[in-house]
Amino acid sequence: KRKVIIDCDPGIDDSLAILLALNSPELEVVGITTCSGNVPARLGAKNALKALQMCSSLHVPVYVGEEHPLKRELVTAQDTHGEDGVGENFYEEISDAQIKDGGIDFIIDTLKNNEKISIIALGPLTNIAKALMKDKEAFNNLDEFVSMGGAFRIHGNCSPVAEFNYWVDPHGADYVYKNLPRKIHMVGLDVTRKIVLTPNIIEFINRLDKDMAKYITEITRFYIDFHWEQEKVIGCVINDPLAVAYFIDRSICEGFESFVEVVEDGIAMGQSVVDSFDFYKKENNAVVLTDTDEKKFMYMFLKRLFKGYED
Ligand code: BDR
Ligand code: CA
Repeated sequence: KRKVIIDCDPGIDDSLAILLALNSPELEVVGITTCSGNVPARLGAKNALKALQMCSSLHVPVYVGEEHPLKRELVTAQDTHGEDGVGENFYEEISDAQIKDGGIDFIIDTLKNNEKISIIALGPLTNIAKALMKDKEAFNNLDEFVSMGGAFRIHGNCSPVAEFNYWVDPHGADYVYKNLPRKIHMVGLDVTRKIVLTPNIIEFINRLDKDMAKYITEITRFYIDFHWEQEKVIGCVINDPLAVAYFIDRSICEGFESFVEVVEDGIAMGQSVVDSFDFYKKENNAVVLTDTDEKKFMYMFLKRLFKGYED
């Protein structure tokens, strides 16, 4: 089993990613840390607990990390994910006592106490940047780092060029790209936009299982309405679970190594600038994903979440 920390901002698609990770025998999720993004970090932690509860995994600790981006004011995505971050279902409190403080120290201590630990980051990179600033050496034990964020050849979802996670905290994102002692697997919009949860699939999962299907149907309803209003798309793009799936099975996405940096402010704030032609002659710091096998992803997702689903 590979030990991982999931750093996230749940979030509808973050919640789905947690479900996938906790239903994957290859992974041992040692903890979940939250930062502010889709919703403020503390609310995100509550939503993480709900997802953990849905897969009987409340033993996994949830830590709140940074509540604000490094320099920018926090801009959440409650228009997209709902006021509560999970489609305005306003689930009852599970138990606040299970939410711990100290997300940054948890990341540092876990890195120090384990020889091989990977991080799957599904939100803005604020927590990772802060942890790196505090103790860069701890990251020598980092095995792999996957970040859902950025966009290469595709338009952004917050501006013509910027993807949400990097746009919310462009300083945090750029700091991580410049300082992490490992290559960042950039699971950007180029690949995640191909992952669409359609009404057909939702209809289908409702035939397979009661509780899990009900939860997924509930949390994605708002997101589906949002997609229709914004883009006249039927269904919803689920970005974050693809990062988990790719971490487990490399053949789900393909890409190339490059140098990447993130624009900190101005008109292109949050843009992930990918030097694919090697203009800068800088050492590659990322693996930029450009294509995905969406059927393979969906098969993995359904098979793991719905035990009744077979070929
Ligand atoms: C990213 O932004 C968030 O809204 C999603 O949870 C995902 O991590 C996509 O741009
Ligand atoms: Ca997210």
